[in-house]
Amino acid sequence: MSDQTTTPSSPTRQRFLFDPAWRFYLGEPAFNLSESQKDEFPLAHLLPTPGPAGTDFDDHAWRVVDLPHDWAVEGIFDQNAEPNHGSLPTGVGWYRKSFNLPESDRGKRIYLEFDGAFRDSTVWINGYLVGRQPSGYTSFHYDISDLLNFGGTNLVAVRLNATQFEGWWYEGAGVYRHVWLLKVAPVHVIPWGVFVHAQPAEDGQVWQVTVATELANQSDQTCDCTIVSTILDAGGNAVASVQTEQTLAPGDRPELKQSIQVDQPHLWSLEDPYLYRLKTGLYCGDKPLDGWPVDGCETSFGLRTIRFDAGQGFFLNEKPVKLKGTCNHQDHAVVGAAVPDRLHEYRIRRLQEMGCNAYRCSHNPPAPELLEACDRLGMLVMDESRHLDSSPQGLFELESLLRRDRNHPCIFLWSLGNEEPIQKTDAGGRIAASLKRLVHRLDPTRPVTQAMNGGWGGLNSEVLDVQGFNYNIQEYDTFHEKFPDKPVVVTESGSTVGTRGIYTADPKQGFVSAYDNNYLPWPASAEETWQAAANRPFISGTFVWTGFDYRGEPTPYKWPCINSHFGIMDTCGFPKDNYYYYQSWWSNHTVLHILPHWNWAGCEGKVIDVWCFSNCEEVELFLNGASLGRKALMANSHLEWPVPYVPGVLAARGFRDNQEVAYTERRTTGAPARLTLHPDRKKVWADGEDVVVVNVAVEDEHGLVVPDAASLVHFSVEGSAKILGAGNGNPSSHEADKAQQRSAFNGLCQVILQATIQPGDILLLAEVQGLLHARAVIKAEEGTLRPRM
Ligand code: GAL
Repeated sequence: MSDQTTTPSSPTRQRFLFDPAWRFYLGEPAFNLSESQKDEFPLAHLLPTPGPAGTDFDDHAWRVVDLPHDWAVEGIFDQNAEPNHGSLPTGVGWYRKSFNLPESDRGKRIYLEFDGAFRDSTVWINGYLVGRQPSGYTSFHYDISDLLNFGGTNLVAVRLNATQFEGWWYEGAGVYRHVWLLKVAPVHVIPWGVFVHAQPAEDGQVWQVTVATELANQSDQTCDCTIVSTILDAGGNAVASVQTEQTLAPGDRPELKQSIQVDQPHLWSLEDPYLYRLKTGLYCGDKPLDGWPVDGCETSFGLRTIRFDAGQGFFLNEKPVKLKGTCNHQDHAVVGAAVPDRLHEYRIRRLQEMGCNAYRCSHNPPAPELLEACDRLGMLVMDESRHLDSSPQGLFELESLLRRDRNHPCIFLWSLGNEEPIQKTDAGGRIAASLKRLVHRLDPTRPVTQAMNGGWGGLNSEVLDVQGFNYNIQEYDTFHEKFPDKPVVVTESGSTVGTRGIYTADPKQGFVSAYDNNYLPWPASAEETWQAAANRPFISGTFVWTGFDYRGEPTPYKWPCINSHFGIMDTCGFPKDNYYYYQSWWSNHTVLHILPHWNWAGCEGKVIDVWCFSNCEEVELFLNGASLGRKALMANSHLEWPVPYVPGVLAARGFRDNQEVAYTERRTTGAPARLTLHPDRKKVWADGEDVVVVNVAVEDEHGLVVPDAASLVHFSVEGSAKILGAGNGNPSSHEADKAQQRSAFNGLCQVILQATIQPGDILLLAEVQGLLHARAVIKAEEGTLRPRM
């Protein structure tokens, strides 16, 4: 859960990472229930529940796991399991954890916070039912104070039922995000209880910061409080402060509004994602304001303006920004849905290197750490609720999303849902209107959209602040002509399919060619996708489906395929060729990329289609030194040459103003001879959580990556880390992710290591029988351990 509003800044507020050492059981543990107990089981508020929810149950034989944990990714691929969910079994799973609380905690309020558990969770404390939450994506918390033993042992039990799905992609299974235990004084700021937003005064120099703080008095005494809100700059210096007095009667739960002026603030932008913190101090009675508050927390926020213009698109801080976005599911090689915090950052950085500046959390609320990474790194976010749903549950899910996420400067748009069939009807429009009212009550600062694939121009379009289009390029202009005052964003586009390093379709193996000419009936090529947005100033931008491959949805194939082909990168984050198309037109780098590889033994004389992605003005292609012609490149397009195959060196030179500015080549390689290891970082924190992603290349004796190498790489590690597993991006690989070995796929694989809490060296050894070995040394430096229980 985000540290927003809950990072403690008072000795009475303590927040513990509650991830370590849970007991886990996959399936329904055997226990005998009487018929009447069976009926009561889900409803047993008043009696302690027997069996695995209860305190007498013996769980010593259950496996010990640390959260975040996704049990689906540990499973064995099964042709009979649902292909859209990655052909991995899900089922029911149980988690139990015992913990002690000191007598001194008596009287405090204790919250148990779940960032996400897939799905249909039931939670018991000391055998008593606390709550049930069907959503597998929504963050939720329970005040468990009344059921706890102070000065004794406690038990939390969680049953998850992942047999039903919420979407049509791999969703994981388990407590796949963090769990936290929060201790606060009876008078406190409630979780997600601080909302900071700001707008510039007319001259743009002075900003008015509005702070809303929700307080709770859970004591039996009336309390005269002072709430002090202080804005700290990135260096921790106080910039401005305000204090307000408020009397809280027992049971009161008011929202207190404060206003603070900041002169010439440092704005948050994509290039300079500057963050402030709001320090909240809650003082009761005659506690001195320069002493420790009764409760306190810090909230990270940023100052920026956002604006959509129906003709000119999106503006950040009044500067036009074309949204170069990708849609993504929460799923990475090795870890499935249980993405470690640092891996979110890894993925965002990969997207930024491509020039991507916007991320759509499709089709559900993301992990808080993803938003924190986007705040820190400067990536705009469209945050999306799982369903277009105004039922009590739908409103709860949206409210939870808004309260949790509304302080993140990266978020510029709320999406109310994706392609719900009801979108086209009046009922769909009325649902959107109800949801929009909730959004604007809880967050008056951001517009709403909906990712629609039909029904444009109906009631929904009237309701939405920004019209979303999924695919259907042919509709953009018609809509704009009819509704010239409605801003437009392409919420979903692309859906081009390709397999990394494959240039001929192989339906049997489930591989699609990576040339940019493979797509399904509804989508378009990468080039058509981007041109459609780039050529229309009224389109704010486009969100390509998807940045990364994900498990499930193996379109256009089924088994043996177990993951999607839609990614611009594969499940490990290795670029497919289209990556360089987007990088050419989205980034500031000089790009020159040619495809395919040049290992076509047996195809001598056969014509190979050579494509070039570049942002140079002209490109000249050479085969073994002989020019095959120089061609001019149109903006947002690519070049092609038919080239009869001769082994050797295929080279390209890129020119601007007749000057050579780039060179690249593809050489025919020899056989695999060695490995190289590429850790994404040389140093990690020895905090038991940090990860290092190590990309592995299989090379020939000259150091060229062998484009079809499939060598089986064995990994071992010594020192301050463990191996989380290995992946390779092959959409049809049935090798286990949670393993110490992995075949390379088209020359590459990836191993992910997680630091222990022991500082020191991490020595990674990678070996392939018959090849040279490779070693990498990474330092695990002493870091601050987050308080944990
Ligand atoms: C869209 C849908 C996505 C994904 C995509 C595949 O219509 O919103 O979730 O299924 O199609 O092309």
